[in-house]
Amino acid sequence: MLSALDSMHVRRSIREFEPELVPMDTIRQLVEAAGRAPSSKNTQPWRLYLVQGPALDALVADYLAAFDAGRPGKPGYRYSPDPLPETWMARAKAVGIGIFQHKGIGREEKEKRRQHDRENFEFFGARQVFFLGTQESAYSYGTFMDCGFVLDNLMLGLASLELGSCPQFSAMAYPDLLKKHIPGSEDTLFIAALPFGRPKAGSHVNAFQPPRLPVEEWFKVVS
Ligand SMILES: Cc1cc2nc3c(=O)[nH]c(=O)nc-3n(C[C@H](O)[C@H](O)[C@H](O)COP(=O)(O)O)c2cc1C
Repeated sequence: MLSALDSMHVRRSIREFEPELVPMDTIRQLVEAAGRAPSSKNTQPWRLYLVQGPALDALVADYLAAFDAGRPGKPGYRYSPDPLPETWMARAKAVGIGIFQHKGIGREEKEKRRQHDRENFEFFGARQVFFLGTQESAYSYGTFMDCGFVLDNLMLGLASLELGSCPQFSAMAYPDLLKKHIPGSEDTLFIAALPFGRPKAGSHVNAFQPPRLPVEEWFKVVS
């Protein structure tokens, strides 16, 4: 098992998965560990659903039908400022270009780009997907931070086991379909999806690890 620091360094978003399933006892240990995340006043405002098997197939079928029909996405919350600050926008564009380059998709290949977007709605081929949410009738900014700790614990825990994942906001486009396929989620605000599994061997796109800012640009010591 990788150390916490090594897991942070090797983790990256995985966008091609092997079909094999992660065993349920491994998932149970992972979720129990992820649930050790801190939260304000120990409120533990998160909810986590694992969707797999026929339930995942049914969700993907509905998702793809909605995407193919050109249905506009309507996530339950706004993730980013609109517009993005210029420096953020530049980084967002760079990561998009990097992903397309690793998939061999050129600038003008609109259909292939659409196909890439579509792959978000089939969770990049993962056979197991976590959906993270919170209580829709009561949440605030800090709630997202608390839930984010669980999301990161899951990603790092998977990385420590040499498994992969990809956090997804795009898959929050159709919360009504999530509510339809996830029983008991009527009062859930869906925050992110996390497809996970064994990274596909030899995948070019999985090799992509976007660069980070030099630490000096965002870390200051005051003494
Ligand atoms: C909450 C969240 C939502 C994201 N949504 C998507 C998504 O919908 N599709 C996707 O391909 N990547 C998505 N990403 C992955 C980011 O593009 C990725 O984390 C970023 O480019 C840094 O790359 P890395 O994760 O490989 O280090 C998301 C990341 C986060 C944290």
